[in-house]
Amino acid sequence: MKRIDAMLDRHILRGDLLDFTEDPGFLSPQDAPGVRYRPDHLVLISQGRIEAVQPAKQTLPDGWASVPVSDHRGQLILPGFIDTHVHCPQLDVIASFGTELLDWLNTYTFPAERRYVDPVVSYDGARRFLHALWAHGTTSAVVFPTVHKVSAEALFDTASQAQMRLITGKVLMDRHAPDGLRDDVEQAEKDCVDLIDRWHGRQRQSFAVTVRFAPTSTPDQLRMAGRLCQSYAGTYMQTHVAENRAEVRWVAELFPSARSYLDVYDRDGLIGPRAVLAHGIWLDERDRAVLQAHGAQIAHSPSSNLFLGSGLFDWATAQREGVRVSLASDVGGGTSLSMLRNMGDAYKIQAMQGTRLTAWKALYTATLGAAHNLGLADEMGRIEAGCMADLAVWRWAVGEVASHRDQLAQRSLHERVFAWMTLGDERNLVSTWVAGRPVFQAPQIEVPAP
Ligand code: GUN
Ligand code: ZN
Repeated sequence: MKRIDAMLDRHILRGDLLDFTEDPGFLSPQDAPGVRYRPDHLVLISQGRIEAVQPAKQTLPDGWASVPVSDHRGQLILPGFIDTHVHCPQLDVIASFGTELLDWLNTYTFPAERRYVDPVVSYDGARRFLHALWAHGTTSAVVFPTVHKVSAEALFDTASQAQMRLITGKVLMDRHAPDGLRDDVEQAEKDCVDLIDRWHGRQRQSFAVTVRFAPTSTPDQLRMAGRLCQSYAGTYMQTHVAENRAEVRWVAELFPSARSYLDVYDRDGLIGPRAVLAHGIWLDERDRAVLQAHGAQIAHSPSSNLFLGSGLFDWATAQREGVRVSLASDVGGGTSLSMLRNMGDAYKIQAMQGTRLTAWKALYTATLGAAHNLGLADEMGRIEAGCMADLAVWRWAVGEVASHRDQLAQRSLHERVFAWMTLGDERNLVSTWVAGRPVFQAPQIEVPAP
C-alpha cells in the first residue's frame, strides 16, 4: 500500500462532499430530508479529527496555508461506510456454491473457521480482512471472528493500530458445531471478561457479546451471555435471528417454551439498544415491537439474503414500525464487501416488494444511520467538525458503460448518485482514510475520454 505520508497529522481533502444530517426515510428523492451536498469543499483534518469544513474558495484559517492538500476536484467524498455485520474468517469461503444456510454452515463455513485456532492464521486473517474492508471504502464494522479467543484478539489488535472503530468479540458456541469449534460456558465467560478488560473502551475498540445464533448455544450459555450484557456497560451484543425458514423451525424445536426466535434472546436479557441482529427476515409484528421498544437494530444483509436464498427483508414495514435498520455485507454469506453492491441488492429486494429505495436512504443507512444506531453519531458517519476523519474518496464512474451513464445523468443530483451507487463498486474507490490517515490508495487509472 502506498501511503501519502504516514506521519502527517494535518491534511486537507478537497472534493465534492456528500453526507446526511437526518434519515431521508422512504420519501421520494426530491422530498427526502437530510441530504447535504457540498460541491468543491475542503475538509481540514488535524490529529485524526475533522477540524473544519469550508468552501474551497474561502480563505484558509491561520496556520493552514502550508498544509498538504489531496486535490480530488470532480470526485465524491463521503463518510467511510459502516458494515454492521460481517465475518472475518469467511473471506476464505465467499462465493461457495449451492447451499442454504444450515448446509452452507456445515459444508463450508465451519471447516474454514476451525483453522483460526492457530494465532498465525488469526493474525493473517485479521490483517487481510481489515485491509479488504478499507479497499472497499468501509472504515468501521461490527465483526464476527470465530469461537477462538485469539481471533478476536487479532482483530482488536490490528484495528487499534489503525485507530479504526471496531466492534467484535469471541463467538459463543457450545453445541451443534464440530470438534474444534465448541467452547464451554465457564471458559467462554472467562475469555469474554478478559477481552472486555483488555480491549473494551480502549481507543476505538468495543466488545460485543457474540452469540453465533440460538441453535449453537445451550440455554446455560445464553443466560451467561445475558449476564455479560447486563454487567458490562456499553458492550454490544451481536447475533443472527430469523434468517432462514428451516433455521426458524429448528429454533422452535430447540426452545419450545420461547414465544419466538427473538424471544430466545429477549428472555435472557440480550436485547437492548446495543443489540445488532443480522437478517430478521422472518420476524413477526410482536418481535418488531420488542426491537423497537429496546432500540435494537436489524443488520439487513441484502447480498447474503439473495445468495443463500434466505428471503426478502421487508424494510418498509420495519421502518413504519420504528425498528432501526442498518446495512451489512454478511460476507461470506454475502458476496461482496462493497457496500455499494449491497445497496444495489437492497434496492432490488425492496423493488420485489413494491418499495423504492432511494440512494439517499441507502447511503444514509450505511453512514450516519449506522453510526446513530450504534450510539456513535458524535464520532462518525458525517463530514463535520469534531467527527473522526473516517472518509472515502470515490470516482463517479469507471468503465465505458458507467461513464456514459454518468454523462447523461444530468436531470438531478439523485439521478447521478443513484447511477453511481447502482453501477459502482470498489473499482470506483480512490482512497480511504481512517482517523485522518490514508489506509488505502488505489493505483492511478486512466479514465477514458467520453
Ligand atoms: N447463522 C449462524 N451463523 C451464520 C453465519 O456465519 N452466516 C450467516 N449468514 N448466518 C449464520
Ligand atoms: Zn452473518
